[in-house]
Amino acid sequence: MTDGFKQERIARRQLLGAAASMGVAALGAGLLAGCSSRNGGSSSASSSSSARQGEASSSSSSSSPSSSSAASAQGAGKALVAVFSWSGNTLGVANRIVEDTQFELFRIEPAIAYTQDYNEMLQIAQDEQSQNAMPKIASNVSNWDEYSTIYLGFPTWWGHLPQIVKSFFLEHDCAGKVVYPFNTHGGSGFASCLSDLAAACPNADVREGLSLMGDSVQSSASQIEDWVKKNV
Ligand SMILES: Cc1cc2nc3c(=O)[nH]c(=O)nc-3n(C[C@H](O)[C@H](O)[C@H](O)COP(=O)(O)O)c2cc1C
Repeated sequence: MTDGFKQERIARRQLLGAAASMGVAALGAGLLAGCSSRNGGSSSASSSSSARQGEASSSSSSSSPSSSSAASAQGAGKALVAVFSWSGNTLGVANRIVEDTQFELFRIEPAIAYTQDYNEMLQIAQDEQSQNAMPKIASNVSNWDEYSTIYLGFPTWWGHLPQIVKSFFLEHDCAGKVVYPFNTHGGSGFASCLSDLAAACPNADVREGLSLMGDSVQSSASQIEDWVKKNV
């Protein structure tokens, strides 16, 4: 189900001028043709996002997750909400989960900040994918071993897990951890993100995910809460 993302991009193309974005649109239509919606999301068009929150720092470092006194979650370890969000939608879900649980929040960010231009971002993300690039992340979770459960948030990018999330797992071994994926998208749902995640975290226990249309995050508080309740 790719209508939402296609409509989003068509609307932007009209705004930005057909000539400038024809190439990206054509590539997108081809790439998205094979995407399947796996976990919800309505068929309405997505208007991408709230403003991007925060820029990545330019050097790599370790940092402790922000927020909360942090409840301990399942098992012996703690739970962490780790999220990559370019335009704020998935971050909105992450913040809601943190509000509901008091778990700690960690933002996955690139060492070199991404452009804020949507069309450029489409192209960069596609290039990263086709080259299987592993963009350096801005910082690591310093106390990673303390967490047994990871709530992992990301947008669908060209039907896949963003490469930056794969980079995150090069630095953070998920073996033995429970991972709950959550996602926002413009119509494709998880598409291939979950199989990408399984490949990036081969020894993790990946559980049921939550996938929402990017433009429905604000109205999905109860859905998020239900998912959290089921999975905490
Ligand atoms: C580079 C890029 C690629 C995208 N690819 C897809 C896609 O394949 N399928 C889809 O449904 N939406 C796609 N979208 C739309 C985003 O998944 C959607 O707007 C999401 O809510 C953005 O989350 P964020 O605000 O947390 O970054 C793409 C957006 C960008 C910027």
